[in-house]
Amino acid sequence: MNITVIGAGYVGLITASGLAETGHRVICVDDDQGKIDTLNAGGMPFYEPGLGDLVDRNRAAKRLEFISRIEDAVAQCEVIFICVGTPPLEDGEADLSSVELVARRISACARGYHLVIEKSTVPVQTGRRLQKHFSIYGDNSQSHYDVASNPEFLREGSGVEDFFHPDRIVIGVDSKKAAGLLEEVYRPVLEQSFVCPIHDSCGKRPHVPLVVTDINSAELIKHASNSFLAMKISFINMISDLCEAVGADAGKVAQAIGMDSRIGSSFLRPGIGFGGSCFPKDLQAFVRVGQSAGCDFTLLREVERINQRRVDLFVDKIKHELWVLRGKRIGVWGLAFKPRTDDVRSAPALAIIRRLLAEGAVVRAYDPQAMGKAKAQLPGVEYCADAYVVAEGADAVLALTEWEEFLSLDFEKVRTMMARPLIFDGRNMFSRIDMAEHGIEYVDVGSGAQLHNHTPTL
Ligand SMILES: NC(=O)c1ccc[n+]([C@@H]2O[C@H](COP(=O)([O-])OP(=O)(O)OC[C@H]3O[C@@H](n4cnc5c(N)ncnc54)[C@H](O)[C@@H]3O)[C@@H](O)[C@H]2O)c1
Repeated sequence: MNITVIGAGYVGLITASGLAETGHRVICVDDDQGKIDTLNAGGMPFYEPGLGDLVDRNRAAKRLEFISRIEDAVAQCEVIFICVGTPPLEDGEADLSSVELVARRISACARGYHLVIEKSTVPVQTGRRLQKHFSIYGDNSQSHYDVASNPEFLREGSGVEDFFHPDRIVIGVDSKKAAGLLEEVYRPVLEQSFVCPIHDSCGKRPHVPLVVTDINSAELIKHASNSFLAMKISFINMISDLCEAVGADAGKVAQAIGMDSRIGSSFLRPGIGFGGSCFPKDLQAFVRVGQSAGCDFTLLREVERINQRRVDLFVDKIKHELWVLRGKRIGVWGLAFKPRTDDVRSAPALAIIRRLLAEGAVVRAYDPQAMGKAKAQLPGVEYCADAYVVAEGADAVLALTEWEEFLSLDFEKVRTMMARPLIFDGRNMFSRIDMAEHGIEYVDVGSGAQLHNHTPTL
């Protein structure tokens, strides 16, 4: 099939190259000419494991091309995916101006039948608005449209794997034709019939479940999924605060409750909270959706409030130990909102660093991938060549993103390099026992019996 993907960001580029790999011919459009030039020159506009190879291979095979004019793509393609950003407005509502602009440009040039698929995360009833838009602005004598929703669930850092082996594919449609086309688009993934580009021996995988629903439900599924995961994180963080206050071990509590198959262990790790380009904004947007529909979404407001407090509580711990921060040398391991990505959008690490800088601390940081993007937002930080350089002369080191390479550091060396061997572990990635063996003071999240804490008796 000939497919247009609009937006060459994390979602658009993974979708475009994944669809090309499964045999479609894909034109990926982005109005950021710099991004298109980078891609056409063989570069990557961001870091995502495995994506560079996928893009190179499919571009070389002429199944994938990059252009900046929507008009040049729409004319050739029946199926169009919208993958542009939907950032939050000041009041938390999703900003749909890029989606609307894309719809305008499609309707200005469309001829014949087009299936327009929203893959961007949008509030429920956006599909209806798009249908109305096309009925008003489309040239109905020359073109007709179906609109569909196909929410994206990929996780940055394993986005390529998630494209090829998703837990499920959700499509929201209101015509048989749209459902048929989307099934055709995804048939190789649904049937797992492609030659797997990421696993050497993928074996015979079971078919991927396809959830076919109305458009409103598909849109809502995405917001509800992300809000639920955010809720799990805030729940365990609330429990971890209690553990610290009463002298219990949040890690063990999380482990044991996660063993209940009705609960599950993922997203139950205490820490400095969720960030990234999706959870915070999707949660806010979903709260706004609930509010405008007259529903009580207080639960999700609390999820958000608990998450915002994570940064304050972590900074309080640092201040408790280091006393005055002005002039203190604080090292930071990890800037990205999670490992295996260079994305720093709403990263807790950046929020924590801003607070430290405001208190006059000298912050030196290292991240394996995200320093380029962080520099643009935090020029006041000294960026270092590796994790050891960060530790040199530091009064404390903060571990803020759980990159695998931090796990294999030589902690004897780290201890001798630091002015005060003290690690604040915002992701609970290290072992308290290991740190004690290396003579390093260690503060994690959710352990009741820590050096900063004098456990009260209730
Ligand atoms: N990043 C994720 O992990 C993820 C996962 C699931 C869903 N989503 C959702 O997918 C959408 C895209 O997210 P992303 O992270 O890929 O965003 P992104 O910012 O990385 O990419 C968006 C791209 O769209 C381009 N764009 C904007 N307006 C355009 C226009 N008018 N014409 C052509 N291109 C245009 C931008 O230049 C940019 O390259 C958002 O709604 C997001 O919530 C993201």
